[in-house]
Amino acid sequence: MLQSSHCGSSHVWALRKTRRRRRLRSPMARAALAAALLAVLGAAAAEGGARPSGSCPGDEEGSVLLQSAATRAQRSEARLQSTEPDADAEGNPYATEPWNATFSVVLSGEEGGEESNFTVTVHPDWAPEGAKRLQDLVASHVFDEARFFRVVPDFMVQWGIPADPAVAKTWSEKKIPDDPDAGHSNEKGMVTFATSGPDSRTSQLFVNYKDNAFLDKQGFTPVGEVVEGMSVVEGIQSKYGEEPDQGEIQERGNAYLTKEFPGLSYISGVTGSFPAGSK
Ligand SMILES: *[C@@H]1O[C@H](CO)[C@@H](O)[C@H](O)[C@H]1NC(C)=O
Ligand SMILES: *[C@@H]1O[C@H](CO)[C@@H](O)[C@H](O)[C@H]1NC(C)=O
Repeated sequence: MLQSSHCGSSHVWALRKTRRRRRLRSPMARAALAAALLAVLGAAAAEGGARPSGSCPGDEEGSVLLQSAATRAQRSEARLQSTEPDADAEGNPYATEPWNATFSVVLSGEEGGEESNFTVTVHPDWAPEGAKRLQDLVASHVFDEARFFRVVPDFMVQWGIPADPAVAKTWSEKKIPDDPDAGHSNEKGMVTFATSGPDSRTSQLFVNYKDNAFLDKQGFTPVGEVVEGMSVVEGIQSKYGEEPDQGEIQERGNAYLTKEFPGLSYISGVTGSFPAGSK
């Protein structure tokens, strides 16, 4: 698990290229392609800027390029998960209609500080798998106390690595399949899962701070939109930018963030208007 600045752009790029080129069967052809791709990665990363990246494969660039078999295994695993029962992690039926997730946020980052809310309308029709996962995350209180660890004004704000490393480990292993593009663009206020390549979504989300339509074609399918409190989202502490290391957050959780990056805005709780189960 590496920081976005180490792995974000180039690994995401590399995994996507691998997927597209999977039809090339000859190892020689693959190796040649890999070398050529590596040559353009630096330029692509520099030109394309940051991409919202979730967990990163802890590999060197060269090996990631040739990992199509591993990626395939992940994909079938993700597909298996998608055939599980139609109830969330807490036994509530998965919503089929739009529902609201209201995030209570302590912008000051202080313990017990004043809360403000923003509300996301989640659209199962835009992104069925993503909506189910978001319901799991809200129902299981996975975001409680989680910090907004990557805040890039004029681009996006990202969160979703759980505060407790044990919880973070569990969710980082539960990948879901991608949702196909349903025609909704990553414009300002749209909420989308971060990825580290095809079929790699887990628990990390971002809100677009501006029109980021260039993400649409990279497999970033919005799952909802901020319908209230966008000013709260825009008030999230950004002074640390992309400094927090995602690997460290996974390993040490809030112990790392509160010590090294005091004052990060955090989520105090989320309520969801999805249908309640019998539990
Ligand atoms: C979600 O919240 C918005 C803003 O408060 C409200 O207008 C809308 O009716 C709510 N939608 C659902 C499905 O609860
Ligand atoms: C924020 O949302 C929570 C949960 O829906 C609600 O209880 C609280 O009153 C809201 N606070 C504000 C300031 O709107």
